[in-house]
Amino acid sequence: MDFNKQLHNFRARVELGICELVPTTETRPGRLHSAMRYSMQAGGKRLRPVLLLATQELFSQEIDPVPAAVAVECLHCYSLIHDDLPCMDNSDLRRGKPSCHIEFDEATAVLAGDALLTHAFRLLGAAYPDQATVATRLVAILGEAAGSEHLIGGQMEDISSESSTPDDETLDYIHRNKTAALLIASLQMGAVLGKASKEEEQMILKLGECVGLTFQIVDDLLDQTGNRELIGKPVGSDREKNKTTYLSLHSMEQTRARVDSLTTQASELCKKLEGDDSFLEWLVRDMAGRVN
Ligand code: IPE
Ligand code: IPE
Ligand code: MG
Ligand code: MG
Ligand code: MG
Repeated sequence: MDFNKQLHNFRARVELGICELVPTTETRPGRLHSAMRYSMQAGGKRLRPVLLLATQELFSQEIDPVPAAVAVECLHCYSLIHDDLPCMDNSDLRRGKPSCHIEFDEATAVLAGDALLTHAFRLLGAAYPDQATVATRLVAILGEAAGSEHLIGGQMEDISSESSTPDDETLDYIHRNKTAALLIASLQMGAVLGKASKEEEQMILKLGECVGLTFQIVDDLLDQTGNRELIGKPVGSDREKNKTTYLSLHSMEQTRARVDSLTTQASELCKKLEGDDSFLEWLVRDMAGRVN
């Protein structure tokens, strides 16, 4: 099977979904909707929605997953817009383009983030009128992952960690919450849309944990060793801000060894899943070796 082609197809469904399901730039207020679309359509790997689509495909495909996939990407994109603000990471480059607050202004970026966050739940609430149980679960899963005990909690401790001595427990909290939680939720939402059994869903959660932890370790690694053109964001900014990252506590060898062991665990979990898991397994490996 040509996995790159499959990835391309999944991404194309996400792009089309974004185009159709996010308000157009002509919608009043044009400046707000332009900022939302600017950030949503600035590129990006679309990893979370692709994981959602690929997970659902392991199970039943009777429900359209695209609105949920777009909702997850809206939520992710809001978190990036706010993450880049001067009061947060103060980053002027995102997805290879000026960050939302640079291209527009801070107030517009705050509002575009707020609006994308709200839009995610609007999509979930409106897209599945005949599947009330599925819709309720999707809202609960995304709401929990994105909230104060997970994504926002992780962001809070990421910011607080700038002025404290790094320690393993805090690092683990930050990685699990600011990043892994939304990746786990993306896989779990795919499982819910596919009406997977409870046992399969449990396995998906474990897979999500490996994927999520790997993803943030590699993000920390790329911040130090990556190429600005390829990653589309500034290099060296974590150290500049004294962030607690995997590399502030571990050597390069330890970091790569952890990525390898998490990836092996993830592919073993993939093999246990029902359906054709070969794409997911490939994606997990591809993510571990990514350069952007
Ligand atoms: C960046 O996420 C923020 C993290 C949680 C590490 P991605 O690396 O998935 O960013 P895009 O969506 O491809 O721009
Ligand atoms: C961002 O983590 C996590 C969220 C946006 C929730 P980072 O601050 O490490 O992400 P990048 O490196 O700016 O993409
Ligand atoms: Mg940050
Ligand atoms: Mg950042
Ligand atoms: Mg980072």
